[in-house]
Amino acid sequence: MKSTDKRNASSYCNYNDTFISYDQNRQPNGLEEILHIFEESPLPVEEQVVMEGGFGTGAYIDQIRHHTKDIYGVEGSEQGYEETQQKVGDATNVHLEIGNILGLSFSDDFFDAYMVNQVLHHLDTKPSYPNLTLFLKESKRVIKPGGVLTINTSSQEQLNPNSGVYWNYKYIEEAAVAMQARYAPIPELVSTLGELGFTDIKTTTPSGKLFQEQYYHDPRLALDADFQKADSIFCFCTEKHIDEANSLIRSDIDDGSVHQHMEQTAKQAEKIGEAVIVSARKPL
Ligand SMILES: C[S@@+](CC[C@H](N)C(=O)[O-])C[C@H]1O[C@@H](n2cnc3c(N)ncnc32)[C@H](O)[C@@H]1O
Repeated sequence: MKSTDKRNASSYCNYNDTFISYDQNRQPNGLEEILHIFEESPLPVEEQVVMEGGFGTGAYIDQIRHHTKDIYGVEGSEQGYEETQQKVGDATNVHLEIGNILGLSFSDDFFDAYMVNQVLHHLDTKPSYPNLTLFLKESKRVIKPGGVLTINTSSQEQLNPNSGVYWNYKYIEEAAVAMQARYAPIPELVSTLGELGFTDIKTTTPSGKLFQEQYYHDPRLALDADFQKADSIFCFCTEKHIDEANSLIRSDIDDGSVHQHMEQTAKQAEKIGEAVIVSARKPL
């Protein structure tokens, strides 16, 4: 079977294709901060049963499994599922399935902690984010009273193509604006969590990075087709857009201006981070 014929769940991007070069180009940003949030629960992490929704190629599961009693994962892409199975091998505390996080097969009050990392923007095509609400309700159902939900996402400021924290988005501005619209603004997410009865709602800015190190000092990486596959923003670009963006980047490399822009972006990332973790608890 071709990777593109496999099952997929994102509302705009075929992850079976994306995942072929994903691990070489991404880092599991926020891992330490998420573990720290799990540690704030009264039950020690090593006794917790944790769930990851939309686990992708398993970068987070493969680390967190060493700290928790059990870890479950539900992923919409078959390619991601297969790559994760390979990573975790025969680990007996890892339980993976292909499925949809909007309708889970688990019974109520099953998990001590539930995390999603860079998944929310794949759920909705409508500006009222109806699937976000569905996802939050379903999460609350499967989390135990007192358990925690962590949502690793990005803010509108971080995604801004001109003043945000991903330097190459300036060259694919239209795609960046289209993708920004898929991300529920953080204040909206926080208020929906409150309306649905979650408590102890907090935002944490992780100090880590989303892309591999080369992205931050070598602008030629952004021209690489494999790198482009590893960021779903490129699913909003036509071939023509990509060619135009690549020419602009090449010309800014030639006159040196790309480095000024990268420096400015790095300063902004230091100030506001590259992602935001919103955490919330199901009341006891
Ligand atoms: C940007 S990737 C993030 C992957 C992984 N969490 C990470 O950070 O490395 C988004 C993931 O969400 C998955 N996904 C999107 N919508 C989903 C849904 N409704 N149910 C299950 N998985 C979904 C995609 O297949 C993809 O693996």
